Amino acid sequence: MVKSFLSVVVLLFFSLFCFSEIDGSEQREFDYFVLALQWPGTFCQRTHHCCKSNGCCRSSNGPTEFTIHGLWPDYNGGTWPACCTQSNFDIKKVSSLLGELQKYWPSLSCSASSTCHGGRGLFWAHEWEKHGTCSFPVIQDEFSYFSTTLDLYFKYNVTKILNEAGFAPSNSEKYPLGGIVSAIENAVGASPLLVCSHGALEELRLCFYKDFKPRDCIIGSSTQFELLTPRSSCPRYISLPQYVPLQLENGKDEFPWLFDIEAM
Ligand SMILES: *[C@@H]1O[C@H](CO)[C@@H](O)[C@H](O)[C@H]1NC(C)=O
Repeated sequence: MVKSFLSVVVLLFFSLFCFSEIDGSEQREFDYFVLALQWPGTFCQRTHHCCKSNGCCRSSNGPTEFTIHGLWPDYNGGTWPACCTQSNFDIKKVSSLLGELQKYWPSLSCSASSTCHGGRGLFWAHEWEKHGTCSFPVIQDEFSYFSTTLDLYFKYNVTKILNEAGFAPSNSEKYPLGGIVSAIENAVGASPLLVCSHGALEELRLCFYKDFKPRDCIIGSSTQFELLTPRSSCPRYISLPQYVPLQLENGKDEFPWLFDIEAM
């Protein structure tokens, strides 16, 4: 009985997943937004070699605040639409935002990211093509996707919220998960979703209704949601490691790396 229930759930999951990956036109409108933020102190510990595109490797101005992973249109229940239109990422459309994108929305790895039609490209291309294209009708084009995400990120300065609540980055302290969640709830007015890796905070996600008012990331207790998301990846006490600058051999980086990647 339990087994067959499970296989139904698994089948359901794969059919939803394949459905959304294969035929964008069949996907229904999303339910809410997730603003996913990365904690570089945790991500950058994994960097074993450097390259210009990796934000962890900046010789100066390394990321000491939460950086943006993406703004994701999601469905209640734990699934999400993906690759909804054939709109390929075009860096020219966000040229006026490049300074901010590079600073606040860096890739934290050297590998190119997957894009929708079997290709690979910039981290921003992945986020726009896989997620951004599904935020219709709230967000209708690439420029709005990136500018809206930056605006939300500036509005809810999670690094500041945690610092002011006494949760400063540290390589020795551990903090109660409940304390971090409460600090965010008090400041934002809704509960976040935290993702950990080996007991260290890796991502903090804020959730929003389609009008960008904050909402709880998990509404009710959906079994399906728990099966599909790393809800309990954080232990009761978690660390918030400090970012440790890595050495980049090729000196200063402005934007030349963009063109290295485009040439791949
Ligand atoms: C967040 O707040 C801190 C002050 O605590 C500030 O230094 C930082 O620039 C702010 N970050 C953003 C992205 O606005």
